Amino acid sequence: MYNNWKELKAACMDCQKCEMCKTRTNLVFGCGNENAEVLFIGEGPGEQEDIKGEPFVGRSGQLLDKYLDAIGLERNKNMYIANIVKCRPPQNRNPLQSEQDTCINWLREQVRLMQPKIIVCLGRIAAQRIISPDFKVTAQHGDIIERRGTLLMGTFHPAALLRNPNQKPDALSDFLKLRDIIKEVCQKTYE
Ligand code: URA
Repeated sequence: MYNNWKELKAACMDCQKCEMCKTRTNLVFGCGNENAEVLFIGEGPGEQEDIKGEPFVGRSGQLLDKYLDAIGLERNKNMYIANIVKCRPPQNRNPLQSEQDTCINWLREQVRLMQPKIIVCLGRIAAQRIISPDFKVTAQHGDIIERRGTLLMGTFHPAALLRNPNQKPDALSDFLKLRDIIKEVCQKTYE
């Protein structure tokens, strides 16, 4: 357990708990406002994120930014983005269950310090890890689940939307629903 973000980040940046530490260029801790009420969780860094040390800065990040912009969310202002695993899985493969198990404690600590009102899971890996192991994005995207005072939503991963643009209208309606819920339950986000 860490007392503050500075201590947590310093410890995380040195992490050598799994093999991915050997192949990373940069660990991707997360970015945004640490006091935000809305937390987005992706799967893990890709090539661009590994190079820059920031989440969602590649093509899928550019698409994500369009959806965020549509509902008045801005990195570093009124939201935070992190991933299930902090280091890039080689060849962009899915993170192994064992890697997720090892890495998830960093995210747990981020959630504990942040105490977000809403957590949005981007894609299957994050939604199955955070919401439920049998989460089906195509059937359950946009559904709101309440767990211990936090609202959880799963939606499409932007990389999946780049592959299947026909799902973009569904993704947009999830984000619009998210905006309504933020207005209902968050005090600071749209101040
Ligand atoms: N995909 C993710 O899930 N996370 C990132 O940070 C980038 C791409």
